[in-house]
Amino acid sequence: MSSSRHPDSKLNPSQAVSNDSGNRDIYDIIAQRPMTRRDFFRTSATAAGVAITATLGGALVGSREALAAAPMPVSPTIGFTPVPANVLPMTDAVTVPADYTARTLIAWGDALAPGVNWDVTQPMDEATQLKSYGAHTDGMHYFPFPGSQANARGLLVSNSEYVDPALLNGITPASAYATAPLTLAMVRAQQAAHGVNVVEIQKQGGEWKVRKPSAFNRRITGNTPCDISGPAAGHALMQTAADPSGRRVLGTLNNCAHGYTPWGTYLTCEENFNGYFGTASANLTAAPLTSHERRYGVSGSGFRYRWHEVDPRFDIRAPGNQNESNRFGWVVEIDPFNPRSTPVKRTAMGRFKHESAALAMGRDNSIAYYMGDDERNEYIYKFVCAKKFNPRNPAANRNLLDEGTLYVARFNADGTGNWLPLVWGQNGLTPENGFADQAEVLVKTRQAADRLGATMMDRPEWTAVHPDTLEVYVTLTNNSRRGNTPASSNKVDGTSVAASANPPVDPANPRPDNDYGHILRWREAGGDVAATSFEWDVFIQCGDKNTTKVLGATYTPGEFGGQTIGYAGNINGDDFGAPDGLWFDQDGRLWVQTDQQGDAQGDWVNIGGNVMNCIDPVTRESRRFLTSPPNCEVTGVVATPDGKTMFVGIQHPGEDWATNFTENSAWPDNGANGPTAYSTLPSVHKPRSGIVVITREDGGVIGA
Ligand code: FEO
Ligand code: CA
Ligand code: CA
Ligand code: CA
Repeated sequence: MSSSRHPDSKLNPSQAVSNDSGNRDIYDIIAQRPMTRRDFFRTSATAAGVAITATLGGALVGSREALAAAPMPVSPTIGFTPVPANVLPMTDAVTVPADYTARTLIAWGDALAPGVNWDVTQPMDEATQLKSYGAHTDGMHYFPFPGSQANARGLLVSNSEYVDPALLNGITPASAYATAPLTLAMVRAQQAAHGVNVVEIQKQGGEWKVRKPSAFNRRITGNTPCDISGPAAGHALMQTAADPSGRRVLGTLNNCAHGYTPWGTYLTCEENFNGYFGTASANLTAAPLTSHERRYGVSGSGFRYRWHEVDPRFDIRAPGNQNESNRFGWVVEIDPFNPRSTPVKRTAMGRFKHESAALAMGRDNSIAYYMGDDERNEYIYKFVCAKKFNPRNPAANRNLLDEGTLYVARFNADGTGNWLPLVWGQNGLTPENGFADQAEVLVKTRQAADRLGATMMDRPEWTAVHPDTLEVYVTLTNNSRRGNTPASSNKVDGTSVAASANPPVDPANPRPDNDYGHILRWREAGGDVAATSFEWDVFIQCGDKNTTKVLGATYTPGEFGGQTIGYAGNINGDDFGAPDGLWFDQDGRLWVQTDQQGDAQGDWVNIGGNVMNCIDPVTRESRRFLTSPPNCEVTGVVATPDGKTMFVGIQHPGEDWATNFTENSAWPDNGANGPTAYSTLPSVHKPRSGIVVITREDGGVIGA
């Protein structure tokens, strides 16, 4: 274990490296305030509630002095030696620093019950999948068992975002799926691979293992009955012929990132639900797509899954089924410790392509969730619960997520920001503008946010909240439709899909054709999670300081195929691009995971394939902690309460929608990072998404 690079690990934030993005640094703003006043507020928790307002740039903002009420961050210890980038020819393994170990804990198709044993050379079937770990692991959370067991036994709850249909159904090459004969049984197997996994894990003889049998092990899938609650429950827009009540829906889909609650439940967030819906083109001649369907990307195509061809629930023009797509795109609450509990879709938190739901709890137990809508030019949201968390009365917390205010973010050019309330009857969210009631505001969250003038962002992925300061960080993964076509082609009128807009650059999204993405952060006024104003800055602009690409021509930064590409960025240390997963550990280390998609093959010399880096939020120093197999995405990270065991997700190794997937990766069955499923790899092997468990050989805290 190398020692920390930060001799002054308690670096004052005012010493932080300057932000060369052109934005003001939020610490600079705070530092400009009178010291006596800042110190007063810093040491006086109750002063955070003092309401002082000032007018700045025409917008009403909270007390600037009161902003300092939240503690200032200090540099965490980051003590590991970075690993090299995984460049061509890539290693088909998860690589961590030499004094760490990464082992596969569980992967797609691994049994969750005794007596189940999928032969991975065969297509997956529904019955087997219902008792086995799901596909394409994504966001996850660890729920410890109480007391002394906390760091050795818990429920690891993880999302299964989507499937590669051809890989699951055994069709080769993958491109043949588009025209292959399709049966309901094949689609049911795919649906069973989606959703959420509750898995009891325990450290046995020093090694983490899945407990089988376990009363807790559970699959929640694309067909598991879920309740619908909150303001949109029972509304006409939520009713279908199969469910005239509008209160009960089958399944949760495209569960991307996640959240958790202080009362011990898990939140799974539905992202690209639109891709599962389709219809025959003749049906659209008779009944064209509505503007509402278009705003959410619901179309006739069924994207890549074709479910609507054999399962009428996914046919948007099947009789009485037009509203089925309205029943997806929500945050879903699950009680992992009650295997009989029904998942609940919490409509008060809004309907969009949800990425994570990051919890911020104030000193007074007020609750806020930060949420991104991951599509080009979509928005960032905050939900504030109407009631506070009650640590003494669990029953009082059960439906806290049904009542509250949903806001959307506007990032002003002067470094301030405002939370704009999506409340029916206010700011034009009225019947004459197509919003009959609050339920309609929520079902049509995107259209409501369009009307309020929220800031279009460069694809908001995960949000993360600093454990001490409650500063919020968000990954903006990339945006190919930003500032690179004439303004005359922009259509930002609420009737066009924001993803088809092409807005100009703005201070919060400062780069045209933003290939590498950036990380933004903000501080709520008064350190109050329920505040309606904040101050923000660009934390990091991602990029590659050495833009030589091995595949294809060498090019000059700023020029590639007629597009702007090749940003050097301002990362202090190991470069990365397309930030996606984001998580703060208990010591304030910021862990960022990447989803470079087209550049996941290790062909960027300086970045290589996808990574997980550890970042100091004060100095912005970045160190590469983990590299991954070819064509995968690193997504999902959590640790045990003592910080000594970390779980990291590896999603879609080898994925290639044109080939057999197997040319690119055989992880984890190639024996890398765990026992191989084969004595020798057969010709029909399947790369499988999975979770690795990371420990330090000296038993220390991960990253320290
Ligand atoms: Fe499923 Fe936006 O990542
Ligand atoms: Ca993501
Ligand atoms: Ca992504
Ligand atoms: Ca993904």
